[in-house]
Amino acid sequence: MIVNQTSEHSHTSLSVIVGVSGGIAAYKAAHLVRFFKEQGHDVRVIPTDAALNFVGAATFEALSGNPVDTHVFEAVDEVQHVRLGQEADLIVIAPATADCMARIAQGRADDLLTASVLVATCPVVLAPAMHTEMWLNPATQDNVATLRRHGKIVLEPAHGRLTGADSGPGRMPEPAHIGRLAEAVVDNPEVFRRDLEGTRVLISAGGTHEALDPVRFLGNASSGKQGFALADVAAQRGAEVTIVAGVTEDLDVPSGADIIRVRSALEMKEAMDARAQDADVVIMAAAVADYRPASVAEAKLKKGSETALDTLELVENPDILAGLVQARHDGQISASTAIVGFAAETGDDSASPLDHGIAKFQRKGCDLLMCNAVGDGKVFGQDHSQGWIISRGEEDTGSAPHVVEVDAGTKLHVAARIWDEIHRLTGA
Ligand code: CTP
Repeated sequence: MIVNQTSEHSHTSLSVIVGVSGGIAAYKAAHLVRFFKEQGHDVRVIPTDAALNFVGAATFEALSGNPVDTHVFEAVDEVQHVRLGQEADLIVIAPATADCMARIAQGRADDLLTASVLVATCPVVLAPAMHTEMWLNPATQDNVATLRRHGKIVLEPAHGRLTGADSGPGRMPEPAHIGRLAEAVVDNPEVFRRDLEGTRVLISAGGTHEALDPVRFLGNASSGKQGFALADVAAQRGAEVTIVAGVTEDLDVPSGADIIRVRSALEMKEAMDARAQDADVVIMAAAVADYRPASVAEAKLKKGSETALDTLELVENPDILAGLVQARHDGQISASTAIVGFAAETGDDSASPLDHGIAKFQRKGCDLLMCNAVGDGKVFGQDHSQGWIISRGEEDTGSAPHVVEVDAGTKLHVAARIWDEIHRLTGA
């Protein structure tokens, strides 16, 4: 592992093995190799024999800048079958076929990839890709459970279109998405520990658009990245995840999560209220517009004439988070449902961002609140974040809230810290 201090933000250059097994998604491995190269990592591709039926070694050699071998009897003088696995900081197998997972689960070493995995002590991340029937087959599920018990990270496959016209779980997540999840594992090997199996999670993400007429709206700069990162971590930790997404950037949908798209605050409230009673954890990560135009014109408004464009009349949107807390109080949603809010604070002459966050936590009545210090281009739309997690203190003692500072890191890192705190609070 080499720490590169030459760029503005120091980052770590890793020695990465990209293992490719024989499924049609092998063509996407080329993009994964490119992703890791763009992040400054040294990449070595090890395909299986079957993978070479889909993509030629020349493609991987050109993209990685390193030789490509498949068998243990190639470059024997360099003892590759031991050296490559020993020297790797990260092994990512994408696609991981049912057969490849079966062989690794059994500890076999009949080609260079499986031999390298058997030697490796670094994180090993597998991105399964196969037909739904193969994924759901008890033999595969047993192998996945064995691999996880052995400390391997088996990513949840995405739902979606497979090779033919059929669709279901089994699709390989997008290459850059796999790359980001794998890098998060190197930063924190515990990031995807399976502690949320059986937990039902509902997360809102992104901003809302409040229509003024058919072409105009009031909106905000929320990207949806933090909400999606929370969904990513929860799904990889084994939770059943539903995202209610407002307006977001073009983000990869977290593997294994269901997604409902909404646009306005009122649509978001309806979608959240309808599902909150079935959730163990509800997170309002969305940036909900506080106000909406009092009326929505059916035709495009013209400037100049006396229209809503001259004097914009606004009405306040309902506070979705406060409504969920009230619904729990009224018994419409379970008393054990944990409710999590967000706050983006700049601080002012009278109080710091954290003081504002604590006041908001108390005002909203939620169980946990992630407070981000924003402004100066921080947090909104960025890949990194930092702040404080504010949560309930000791039960029934009325003690001060519990505050944990979260160091600057990727939104996946922040999401993992938030899930750790939710887990501490609820046992979820
Ligand atoms: N929120 C909500 N419904 C709204 C506004 C906010 O559910 N109409 C939620 C957000 O998703 C977030 C939390 O409330 O989890 C805090 O959002 P924020 O905009 O910071 O809170 P406000 O109450 O609008 O406070 P401020 O006056 O600081 O804007």
